[in-house]
Amino acid sequence: MRITSRFFDIDGGRRWACGGATGHVLEIGVGTGYNLPFYPGGIDLTAIDLTPEMLDRARARAAALHRTVQMQEADATRLPFADASFNTVVSTLTLCTIPRPEEAVREAWRVCRPGGELRFFEHGRGNDRFSVFIERLLEPLAFRLEADRLLLEPDRVFAEAGVPATVVKRTNRGVFWRLLSRRPDAEPPSPAGR
Ligand SMILES: C[S@@+](CC[C@H](N)C(=O)[O-])C[C@H]1O[C@@H](n2cnc3c(N)ncnc32)[C@H](O)[C@@H]1O
Repeated sequence: MRITSRFFDIDGGRRWACGGATGHVLEIGVGTGYNLPFYPGGIDLTAIDLTPEMLDRARARAAALHRTVQMQEADATRLPFADASFNTVVSTLTLCTIPRPEEAVREAWRVCRPGGELRFFEHGRGNDRFSVFIERLLEPLAFRLEADRLLLEPDRVFAEAGVPATVVKRTNRGVFWRLLSRRPDAEPPSPAGR
């Protein structure tokens, strides 16, 4: 991750995804906690990952940063949280490692409150032939080493999940995607008797 960050504007994507988080925040697939320095103060952060070793490293990073984070082992495709529990759900570079990523997006939407946001910074299929050629070349290796699918199309994943999303920005030949999804505010209850 450190090497990749040197060549691509990954920190910019992390800053965008985490910097806009408010209130009760859930990060799915926290990994070793690279995002932790990018969150603003005054939020209440919960972070999950499938892998206990990753969570141990993320806990160490949170302690070094003097950040309080509720870390929990959990599957992003079956979140152990009630509907509408969080104001913001963040994911960075995680969808590409989940075999059925649309289930994770659907779950993120379920636990997001009305008026809340999904802020996803992901990598996927680039927007020109050269980047797609390189991604196609590297994908078998990336998949073998990190179960990472380089040619994922994040906008399609949201569409398959039935979750409306806007592609806010794509960088580095379109390889890095910023996707924003806003849950509409709750409908006011209709007046009784009408
Ligand atoms: C490529 S790493 C990205 C880590 C971190 N989000 C970052 O940006 O540095 C993907 C992470 O997703 C986690 N992961 C994969 N599948 C998951 C799932 N179904 N539920 C929760 N975490 C998952 C992996 O254990 C890993 O820590």
